[in-house]
Amino acid sequence: RAQREAVVSRHSEVLETANTHYRQQLRTARPAIEYLKSRGLSGEIAARFGLGWAGNDRQGLKAVLPNYDDPLLVESGLVILNEEGRRYDRFRERVTFPIRNARGHLIGFGGRIIGKGEPKYLNSPETPIFSKGSELYGMWEGRTAIRSNGMVIVVEGYMDVVALAQLGIECAVATLGTATTPVHVQKLLRASDLVIFSFDGDKAGRKAAWRALEACLPLLRDDASIRFLFLPEGHDPDSYVREFGPDGFRTALKEAMSLSQFMLSELVGRHPMEEAEGRARCIHDARPLLQAMPAGALRMQVQRELAQLTRLTPEELTQLIHLEDVPSG
Ligand code: GTP
Ligand code: MN
Ligand code: MN
Ligand code: MN
Ligand code: MN
Repeated sequence: RAQREAVVSRHSEVLETANTHYRQQLRTARPAIEYLKSRGLSGEIAARFGLGWAGNDRQGLKAVLPNYDDPLLVESGLVILNEEGRRYDRFRERVTFPIRNARGHLIGFGGRIIGKGEPKYLNSPETPIFSKGSELYGMWEGRTAIRSNGMVIVVEGYMDVVALAQLGIECAVATLGTATTPVHVQKLLRASDLVIFSFDGDKAGRKAAWRALEACLPLLRDDASIRFLFLPEGHDPDSYVREFGPDGFRTALKEAMSLSQFMLSELVGRHPMEEAEGRARCIHDARPLLQAMPAGALRMQVQRELAQLTRLTPEELTQLIHLEDVPSG
């Protein structure tokens, strides 16, 4: 445990040094400042999220980390060591988004290109202290708002988190370009009893929402609520809140679908429910989902609704699905 703490602090320390450097550089980086302005962000919000700028110098960090050959810099993801044995900064010509864990320790960065180019976002690699599958961007910055609003909103992108905060909705966090994992869900449910997923209004966003639902199922509690807000095609939370304002976004949040609604409407939508075959396949698809849910009032409710939709009695459905009656925690 103490050893672990030491690793975290060694890494955090070099990351903090880089972060200070990136933030310093942003002060005089005209194009980056103009870019952030064009996305509706104020200097104040950029400062609150610690946004910075990594310039185009291939070894820019040498200025602040003179021990540039230290393997720790490669291990921390700040420096890349190529096949020819040359070292260079990972983040160059990118707006930097520092990523902090729930205790405020700096664990990695995201970096957005401001012009054309690939990849649009670059993240820190997996390191001893950074794992995309278990971290959420904005958890630290949003911790007070999450508590006072009694809700956490989960979005896809860094910019969604920052743009929402700019317009006064400060309780959003983002998955880091990965699918929502059970570890994410655990952290979300620990942070709040109300979790609202709001992914992009495109095919990828809807797919991501379904995967998030699957990650949630085993962790459902009758005293917590998980909802899904589907934005109109082509919108993400950033573009939506900028077009319709914070009140527009809040109204949309109020109309977010419950997890059970989402699950049942997807199941029903995939099959011709007017046919016996369609209803049978619907039950077939529902089976692993219901089995993943802990026994409890919510599962019973979903079972009852599914029975109605598939024209079975709840008893017939239970028999088909073989739900064990283990009590939930
Ligand atoms: P903006 O164009 O800045 O508004 O980005 P966005 O957040 O709307 O982008 P998008 O919806 O395409 O992606 C959502 C999130 O996925 C981003 O915030 C990143 O975390 C991640 N992501 C997007 N593009 C890339 C990429 O090219 N590489 C990696 N590693 N992650 C990406
Ligand atoms: Mn997208
Ligand atoms: Mn409980
Ligand atoms: Mn997006
Ligand atoms: Mn966007």
